[in-house]
Amino acid sequence: MSNWRHKPRTDRELNQLVAPVNQVIRWLKTRRGFIIGVGILKGGTGKSTTSLYLALYCALVLNLDVAIVDTDDNSQSLSRWYAMHLAMGDKIPFTLIEHPTKGKDAIPLKKRLKSIRGQYDVVIVDLGGGDKETFIDLCEKARLLFMPSAPSGWETDRIQATLQTAASAARINLDGLDVYNFFVKCDFGSTLAEEEREAMALDLSEEDEDFIQPPFLHPYFDISKAPHHIRSWNAIPKRGDLEEWGLLIRHAMKGIIEEDEAA
Ligand SMILES: Nc1ncnc2c1ncn2[C@@H]1O[C@H](COP(=O)(O)OP(=O)(O)OP(=O)(O)O)[C@@H](O)[C@H]1O
Ligand SMILES: [Mg+2]
Repeated sequence: MSNWRHKPRTDRELNQLVAPVNQVIRWLKTRRGFIIGVGILKGGTGKSTTSLYLALYCALVLNLDVAIVDTDDNSQSLSRWYAMHLAMGDKIPFTLIEHPTKGKDAIPLKKRLKSIRGQYDVVIVDLGGGDKETFIDLCEKARLLFMPSAPSGWETDRIQATLQTAASAARINLDGLDVYNFFVKCDFGSTLAEEEREAMALDLSEEDEDFIQPPFLHPYFDISKAPHHIRSWNAIPKRGDLEEWGLLIRHAMKGIIEEDEAA
């Protein structure tokens, strides 16, 4: 279920906001190695859950070759999720690549991405909340950066700092980096998302000339707090659970494909 408060009134209006599935598949298949980063310089906002659902949608629904790169040395949530489900005999439709950022196997993320990107249509990079160096590396290489957070000041607090770091790192990104904020864990029965979006858009410190307006996706594409998200540690989400994620990806891809075709 997406955010019904902002639902486009007609199918035509919706289709103006999302790229058609076939166009997204064709575009990604012909390019290969499309890098999507999922990161905010803050822990616990929903980055790994977002990475998982994006990967499942791209693999199961779009039928693409997908890898997740787990860069989170501290919690390694997705690496542990992957190992656990493999041990349970579950079929996982994407590859998991561990990327240690410390210790003897550590290499810069840029180097890792260079060596693997040709093998996949889509590479999703899940970041830890505190690893600024890896975040900067990612902003130099990714084409798309998603910044998921709950609609609460407790989670959005570091978004301004993250946007400023991303903007500075993206200056040397040869393909250009599109950065998008959206909310996850949304209760669409309340107006929390609307309130928080408004609070974040306000430049509270007018002297701060570095303030960056958060680049929000259309609010219809916020993500619910449906229970399957919370259960996804134990139960691999089903195709039907991926629908709202599909709309979100198709919405972000519409902008990217249009920019690409205009270039
Ligand atoms: N859409 C959602 N609906 C409900 N709960 C969610 C949703 N997305 C994430 N969560 C919950 O939020 C918590 C944090 O999620 P997650 O581990 O994905 O965050 P993270 O940003 O990767 O954390 P870390 O910084 O530790 O890596 C988990 O309990 C998860 O189940
Ligand atoms: Mg995580």
